[in-house]
Amino acid sequence: MAEYPVEPFRIKVVEPIQKIPQSERENILKKAGYNIFNIDSEKVYIDLLTDSGTGAMSDNQWAGIMLGDEAYANCRNWKKFESILKEITGLKHIIPTHQGRAAENILFSTVVKPGMIVPNNNHFDTTFANIMEQGGDPRNLVDAPGKDPDLEHPFKGNINVEKLDQLLSKQADEIPLIMLTITNNSGGGQPVSMQNIRKVRKIADKYDRPFFFDACRFAENTYFIKTREQGYKNKSIKEIAQEMFSYVDGVTMSAKKDGLANMGGFVAVNDDQLAEKLKEKLILKEGFLTYGGLAGRDLEALARGFQEVLEEDYLEYRINQVKFLGDLLDEYGVPYMKPTGGHAVYLDAQKFLDHIPQKHFPAQSLTVELYKQGGIRAVEIGSFMFAVPDQETGEISYPELDLVRLALPRRVYTNSHLRYVAKVIRQIYENRHECRGMRIISNGESSLRHFVARLEYVD
Ligand code: F0G
Repeated sequence: MAEYPVEPFRIKVVEPIQKIPQSERENILKKAGYNIFNIDSEKVYIDLLTDSGTGAMSDNQWAGIMLGDEAYANCRNWKKFESILKEITGLKHIIPTHQGRAAENILFSTVVKPGMIVPNNNHFDTTFANIMEQGGDPRNLVDAPGKDPDLEHPFKGNINVEKLDQLLSKQADEIPLIMLTITNNSGGGQPVSMQNIRKVRKIADKYDRPFFFDACRFAENTYFIKTREQGYKNKSIKEIAQEMFSYVDGVTMSAKKDGLANMGGFVAVNDDQLAEKLKEKLILKEGFLTYGGLAGRDLEALARGFQEVLEEDYLEYRINQVKFLGDLLDEYGVPYMKPTGGHAVYLDAQKFLDHIPQKHFPAQSLTVELYKQGGIRAVEIGSFMFAVPDQETGEISYPELDLVRLALPRRVYTNSHLRYVAKVIRQIYENRHECRGMRIISNGESSLRHFVARLEYVD
């Protein structure tokens, strides 16, 4: 097997985890209505539900927690938070929020009017929902390679610039901003190239429209640029990040990912007038301009996290740990979205369980099996999440892919944990014909039903 980078840290604090017997897990699943969001965290052995807010902080960040200045206005931790973000992004106004979706809400409720279109490579569900809430029309324009789970391609997060140009040539007036999600979470955690970012900037200039990043995993994106794109091998991670941000007019970010902390977010913009409007809304909805829903100690942990996330040995370990899990699955012939992304491995459930039709939720059946057989919690990103009946016609349209996301929390699990995960997946794959389809028995109408619906097996 290939060599993988050694963890660039040692473990100072440990949190015990416990594997309960399979019979107990089966009862828990039944009680939970086969919805893994209803399972207590202590009953989970390896939790790969999300990489959001689940990372381990460094000793330096924990030390910073003790230096929280909890003054209401202008605490010293805010100054550090603002200064590091200005240094990385080069943007003029930094507006803190308690998490990513709050940043999205403040921005979209200010700039999106009914009928307006917001193009993106792929919107994450919260950006999608926040635009919809304003009566807007979120559009996904990821380029063709990003839709083919088997294709090896270095930048499957790229947006289709021809389609973007066409859209703007006809409807620029109805487009309040162009967005790119880096890395593209809904499309497999795949990166966007600097060349693609530059092309989007040109289109934004051509039609005089602002260009924003959804920048949750910006540091992971820079590492892919450094290792896969010509001309970046000898640039530092910080230089690459600064170049990426130099092309945009604004950013929304959930700092629960590449802020390396458990809570936080921000919106940043250059435009003074827009900033004034966002700041007014911030005070009303989140809190004063220098804390935005966060404690002083959170701001300190984040300021330190934003520095640590730019360390190349951390990113090399991080990206290659995700690849490690993918490589094990390759050995076992398990179908997953290629290549592995920055924060997660996405199992291709339609291929994995090709005897279960989409209407019986193959990816949910696989998610349930992972918990049943291994105590592993993953998340379904497929028909259970997206194939919701249209409220007027009742018609159901199924997503192109039925995926199970195994998201890796940052600096939390070792490669031994991942070997265990891969072994459980192999065992399920070898006996895959025993997996059964499922149906929803309650709360199926909710647009966010994957959080609340209950299911049972079809016979
Ligand atoms: N944008 C992207 C690309 C995200 O992945 C997320 C969250 C958000 C925005 C919203 O941020 O949770 O802080 O409000 N993603 C998590 C996930 C929840 O599991 O992928 P938030």
